[in-house]
Amino acid sequence: MAEKSNITTLKPLPRHVAIIMDGNGRWARRRFMPRIMGHRQGAVAVKEIVTAARELNIPYLTLYAFSKENWSRPAEEVEGLMDLLFEYLQKEIDELLGKRIRLRAIGEIEALPERVYNLLMETMEKTSKNYEMQLILALSYGGRSEIIEAAKKFARRCMAGDMDPEELDESSFRSFLYAGDIPDPDLIIRTSGEKRLSNFLLFQAAYSELYITSTLWPDFNKKEFIKALNDYRRRERRFGMTSEQILLRCTSSES
Ligand code: FPP
Repeated sequence: MAEKSNITTLKPLPRHVAIIMDGNGRWARRRFMPRIMGHRQGAVAVKEIVTAARELNIPYLTLYAFSKENWSRPAEEVEGLMDLLFEYLQKEIDELLGKRIRLRAIGEIEALPERVYNLLMETMEKTSKNYEMQLILALSYGGRSEIIEAAKKFARRCMAGDMDPEELDESSFRSFLYAGDIPDPDLIIRTSGEKRLSNFLLFQAAYSELYITSTLWPDFNKKEFIKALNDYRRRERRFGMTSEQILLRCTSSES
């Protein structure tokens, strides 16, 4: 309750929140359940956090749902995760349309099983005119692959004579990433206490604020989400500058 009442007195909310949803396996193990039950409960948490983000008017929410490395998990777990994703897309389409949420995906989505890929494409198409919020699912995603693929696309453009290597800068490089129009994440949340990025948004995370909680993803809820947002809102983001420079920049933009 105290967290909620604070929210109006702090710095603005992040525009883009990205979440590394970790701890599903441990959640299940603590209950002597199969790992997939942890993922299933994780999908319930996904629904709660998407709803909360929409209510709070956060324009971009990226969820790390399946990494490229996750393909090497036991086949049964991979199949279970693909089933969950399929179910989520089937069940949530009306909610996404009703709440005017656009669904997007980043990653090597062609690697997904055909039925999941087709439903994902259909959901992205159906929600493509929604502007209130974008929900971005990182699927078969790897940050290093994203950068390498972008470098290849750029090299092909150079070889075709459409671009010159000297033209490349941070801004033009973004256009070769999976979703170069999406602003960098202001805040990256990681659940379950691990303190690493795990190949997530490596280019985009350069100045992201990190928030690590020991809460396992299936237990992460709206209250925890607001706690993370308020923690972010108390921070000073300097982007390599000094506190004084930031203060000056804020006061001059206000006048
Ligand atoms: C990491 O926990 C989590 C994943 C690899 C999958 C995340 C998937 C979901 C939250 C559910 C499905 C998603 C959607 C969008 C419907 P872990 O298994 O590595 O946990 P552990 O480290 O405790 O073993």
